[in-house]
Amino acid sequence: SAGAVPAAGAVAAPAAAPAAALPVTIFFGTESGNSEALAEDDAALLKKKGFKVKVKSLGDTTLDELKEAQNALLVVSTWGDGEPPDAVVPFHEKLMGADAPKLDGLNFSVCALGDTSYEQFCECGKQFDKRLEELGAKRIADRVDCDVDFDETHEEWIGAVLGALEAIAPAAAPAVAAVPAAGAVAPAAAYGKKNPFPAPVLNRVLLNGEGSSKETWHLELGLEGSGMSYDAGDALALIPQNAPDVVESVLEAGGFDPSAKVSVKGAGERPLIDAMTENLDITGISPTILKKYNELAQSDKLSALLDPSNKAELKDYLWGRQIVDVLTDFPVKDLSAADFTGILRKMPPRLYSISSSIHAHPNEVHLTIASVRYNAHGRDRKGVASTYIADGLTPGDSTVGVYTHANKNFKLPKRGDTPIIMVGPGTGVAPFRSFIEERAALGEKGKNWLFFGDQHYTYDFLYQLEWQQHLKDGTLDKLDVAFSRDQKEKIYVQHRLLENSKEIFKWLEEGAHFYVCGDASRMANDVNEALIAIAMKEARLKRDAAEYYVEDLKKSKRYQRDVY
Ligand code: 2AM
Repeated sequence: SAGAVPAAGAVAAPAAAPAAALPVTIFFGTESGNSEALAEDDAALLKKKGFKVKVKSLGDTTLDELKEAQNALLVVSTWGDGEPPDAVVPFHEKLMGADAPKLDGLNFSVCALGDTSYEQFCECGKQFDKRLEELGAKRIADRVDCDVDFDETHEEWIGAVLGALEAIAPAAAPAVAAVPAAGAVAPAAAYGKKNPFPAPVLNRVLLNGEGSSKETWHLELGLEGSGMSYDAGDALALIPQNAPDVVESVLEAGGFDPSAKVSVKGAGERPLIDAMTENLDITGISPTILKKYNELAQSDKLSALLDPSNKAELKDYLWGRQIVDVLTDFPVKDLSAADFTGILRKMPPRLYSISSSIHAHPNEVHLTIASVRYNAHGRDRKGVASTYIADGLTPGDSTVGVYTHANKNFKLPKRGDTPIIMVGPGTGVAPFRSFIEERAALGEKGKNWLFFGDQHYTYDFLYQLEWQQHLKDGTLDKLDVAFSRDQKEKIYVQHRLLENSKEIFKWLEEGAHFYVCGDASRMANDVNEALIAIAMKEARLKRDAAEYYVEDLKKSKRYQRDVY
């Protein structure tokens, strides 16, 4: 990471000098745990460098605490369309609000996390960065905006931050002036994010019956020899490959020679066709990619589309289109393979909620994945990872690159006797298979209640036999199902929650934890509304107070969501 070497390193104090322990607080705002994990890494590095480091969630940070931090590093994700992570909403409101206090004397730097495939890329971090400056705080290192493969950008950032902090407190600087990249601190584990484990595909089963409009796969992978493990509620990152027909269509649209050599970061020189299959995202488009592409294309039509006055047209264009369409719609004469791959991003790993317990299936990890297939703008399209799993893997033969990803925000209660309520329609049921298996395997006695929903009882009752077995052996205490299309009117999980209002409230009052997994765009909100309605009805609360009741469940980590 160039530029990370601190100017102050040259005047570092002798090793024996007592470090003037400069206080630094690393605030994280996280949804899936990435920012928190990065904050912990940063803390370890800064501690080693002699700083007095605290790590704190923005979920329970007041503006006074921010100010008192003196040196504040913010590692913050953006969620969905430019939203702060759930837990950060109250802090965001306070900081952006008109009553926010002056923050003179505060030093800060922001590491923003996001996903360039969203229009509001890293929006939350950008807002914090701007607002802190407005309030008089001093930016000690420039903000970075990280895409889904955030490691490199984040390392550059913490390197620059370290340099800046050492310049503020030269006495705290170590005698050795060289600044290692953050990744150099902890020796890399044999297998992990930087070195995914090639997991053998043990088994794959289609969970839907014939006649279903869904295609949901149960996938079993081997972890033996990986040194990896996971807890119930964690996720698995999987490195997919692009399908041969998709690679072919892009090669053709661009008029590329498949054997042309291109250089790939971290993989050296490779034939284009291999790089396109294994290393690069050759489908996803975003305003960023279109801009880079237009530097090559110099197309009037594309320039017009990218003009800030044509936001709506751009959004329209992006919908359902992929790289292959861009190559076709705005052709570039004699586009070289190297120029083309130069604008593409690395193939991003996909995160799936794990659907097994390691105690029930030693050395295995299971996933539950719905294949995405549709037609848009006259072409058949398919989800990269979900159809790679469905079409590109052969059980007993293939391996697939994976690493585990902890999710601290989706965990079984510490106590095995705490009751839990789980709401998981569709593939949202995945982590609850893991929860139930875990509780059964560990002999935990807490009550378990599952709400499951999907389109049709006959074809779409995912893991039906397993649930029935768990009901029989007493692991599962209650199971309520909502099959939305088995009757004229739609019946969804939230309707079943409302029908069970009294009993749910009773469980909550007994200390039950409440979990939701699945669709973020509608289901999670509708279930949240149902929970508020239940609190209003059963505790006779006004809307405000019921919202507070639900908010309080969240704060005390008894209401956890894994939604996507
Ligand atoms: P639908 O497709 O018939 O509308 C899993 O995909 C299940 O979630 C399906 O039965 C689907 O129903 C249902 N679903 C769709 N929208 C929902 C919502 N807003 N709340 C709860 N469930 C929903």
